[in-house]
Amino acid sequence: MSVNVKDFGIENMPEAVLEEYGAKTKDPRTREIMLSLITHLHSFVKDVKPTEEEWFKAITFLTAVGHKCDDVRQEFILLSDTLGVSSLVDSINHDRSGVGTENTVLGPFYVPGSPEMEMGSSIVQKATEEGETAVANGTVYDNNGNPLAGAVLDVWQSSSEGFYHMQDENMPDFNLCGRFTTGEDGKYIFVTEKPAAYPIPTDGPVGDMLNACGRHPMRPGHLHFIITAPGYDRLVTHIFTNGDEYLDSDTVFATKSSLVGEYKETNDEALASELNIESPFLKVDFDFTLMPS
Ligand code: BEZ
Ligand code: FE
Repeated sequence: MSVNVKDFGIENMPEAVLEEYGAKTKDPRTREIMLSLITHLHSFVKDVKPTEEEWFKAITFLTAVGHKCDDVRQEFILLSDTLGVSSLVDSINHDRSGVGTENTVLGPFYVPGSPEMEMGSSIVQKATEEGETAVANGTVYDNNGNPLAGAVLDVWQSSSEGFYHMQDENMPDFNLCGRFTTGEDGKYIFVTEKPAAYPIPTDGPVGDMLNACGRHPMRPGHLHFIITAPGYDRLVTHIFTNGDEYLDSDTVFATKSSLVGEYKETNDEALASELNIESPFLKVDFDFTLMPS
């Protein structure tokens, strides 16, 4: 039996590839995604016209990204973050229409299972030398402006030396992490250290990419939150530290002006004694608004 040999080349790319995938892919969403991916990928290759050495370098780079991943290191998330794609996916999926608190990226350092804590507790298990005591305080509201009871705030941050608990073997597990549940007044309050700017990990291929592109690896200081309540959209967000020098150049493109919190020095002796901290101390007041799901 004779078979007609097809001619493939620059003259019929990507059309020939699109025709094949378009005809054979059954699931409509998979089909839509594959056709768009092929269209954009071919267009990219036609645009940059890589040499074979360059294309192999790209494949070697992605292979190295995969090899860098393990249970606690996710280099692919870091790649998506530093290319601005995580932030874009986040914005596409969480339009809060100017009412709810804005979302931002989850990042690779969230570990489920933080200890449940009473309101007013400290999440600092091991203080760092330069750490400045700070109180985070505010109210979780629903979209009608009513305080939300039963909202769970899962909180985590890096130390003032720039490491999350799983990155530093000298830190206790879940240092600077905690889970708080609001009462009828919707209020939350906990003691921590003022978050400092820190570099994302640069000892892998993503660090090499940033270096090759002349980009710094810094994120402005921030507190991470996941806030959940039955019937409401999960809010994944940060409170960024006001005055941080990296607020205008976050290496993962995740800052939003609405998420900057102001750390103010406070002499509130009564609150200091209630929270078992010394006065004066820093305090950041920040409210959250959840949207119904
Ligand atoms: C973080 O804030 O933990 C983070 C986010 C994206 C990339 C690296 C770190
Ligand atoms: Fe972070």
